Amino acid sequence: MTAARRILVLHGPNLNLLGTREPGVYGSTTLQGINESLAALAAELGVELRTLQSNSEGALVDAIQGAVADCAAILINPAAYTHTSVAIRDAVAATALPAVEVHLSNIHAREAFRTHSYLAPVAVGQISGFGPDSYLLGLRALVNRLEK
Ligand code: DQA
Repeated sequence: MTAARRILVLHGPNLNLLGTREPGVYGSTTLQGINESLAALAAELGVELRTLQSNSEGALVDAIQGAVADCAAILINPAAYTHTSVAIRDAVAATALPAVEVHLSNIHAREAFRTHSYLAPVAVGQISGFGPDSYLLGLRALVNRLEK
């Protein structure tokens, strides 16, 4: 598939622990489960995914920078870096690729520090609060955007 149909999917810190991490907040679906659902939807929509989870801000920045060469869009759950990382925001802005920010939980209904996202102003939009469906809704939104 060409770069025009390739989407970078990024999962930030602690999302490798999904399934056992605070299940009352994040549910019981594992990251592998989310990635499998995304892969199935990607096949249906005719796009290719490149997927990375990292606990390291620098690795996420490197992946975002790398997307310029061979991806058309970015689907990202920056996790805790949502609320702290100017570096991830700047990297997404630098790519000029459309990015959708997703969260499993509704970050606007939790602690006050989670309501601010450094990334949101440079993203196409934010989908928050639908559990694993946030990722699937985000992927659909990105593909619709690419096809417009
Ligand atoms: C999260 C919300 C963040 O506030 C938190 O730090 C996470 C996960 C979510 O998907 O709901 O790690 O991004």
